[in-house]
Amino acid sequence: MTEGIERLARLITESEKTVVFTGAGVSTESGIPDFRSPDGFWSKYDPEDFTIQKFLRSPAARKAFWKMSAEGGLLAEAEPNPAHYAVADLHHSGRLDCVITQNIDNLHQKAGVPEEKVFELHGNMRRVVCLSCGNRLPMLEVVQKVNEGIEIPGCPDCQGILKPDAVLFGEALPVVTLREATRRAQKCDLLIVIGSSLVVYPAAYMPAYAREAGARLAIVNLTATPLDCHATVCIQGKAGEIMPRVVAMVRPS
Ligand code: APR
Repeated sequence: MTEGIERLARLITESEKTVVFTGAGVSTESGIPDFRSPDGFWSKYDPEDFTIQKFLRSPAARKAFWKMSAEGGLLAEAEPNPAHYAVADLHHSGRLDCVITQNIDNLHQKAGVPEEKVFELHGNMRRVVCLSCGNRLPMLEVVQKVNEGIEIPGCPDCQGILKPDAVLFGEALPVVTLREATRRAQKCDLLIVIGSSLVVYPAAYMPAYAREAGARLAIVNLTATPLDCHATVCIQGKAGEIMPRVVAMVRPS
């Protein structure tokens, strides 16, 4: 592992434009389960209950979603872990072009990466949107209503259906974010994947776009991924342990 860490630190030192691509694995050490590990989210919940079709069709599905959100089942008090802070350190040392993340937990921003450098392909749980009038509200304000006994909160302006700003299955990804993230992936000279199984598209195209454009690929993940064979550096292990060691070895720019 040490050799991989030294090699990745060298790649970052040599890079002019480093993009970090993250998945749920970067947040497991913050106490947020990932999706496809043995005790992951999909081992407890049915993905079918998280499709946009079901959310719109079934008041019971909306009620279950808001109950889970109110119980803090979705990231309420999570804090960044050393992996998030290591990525933020790359920003502080002027070495980070951007973070493209599949995560909706806002932890890259909480760790110090500026909002304009975080491209959230699957949205964010910080906000809620009304599907009728487009009104946007803070998630905490809506969860407050659930805690006061309103099982399916409606839009305060028009009583329309409120949906978290996270992308549900069957929903299109935010177009502008996806377009800019794709552009960044195609322009970087190093893309570092941290904590993703790389099995969900179109997000998982990002490392491929970078490779096709001539960038080098590095993967830091607990388990093997389908793109390991295309990576210049592959380090299997916990991001919270690996990334601080990598960043500590990056020579100041
Ligand atoms: N350090 C490094 N890697 C880790 C760690 C850790 N501490 N913990 C877990 N991992 C790895 C797992 O081995 C797994 O390969 O992170 C990966 C997480 O993969 P998934 O659970 O599939 O999460 P992700 O790749 O983000 O899923 C993509 O699928 O369900 C949808 O919308 C959801 O955004 C999500 C998308």
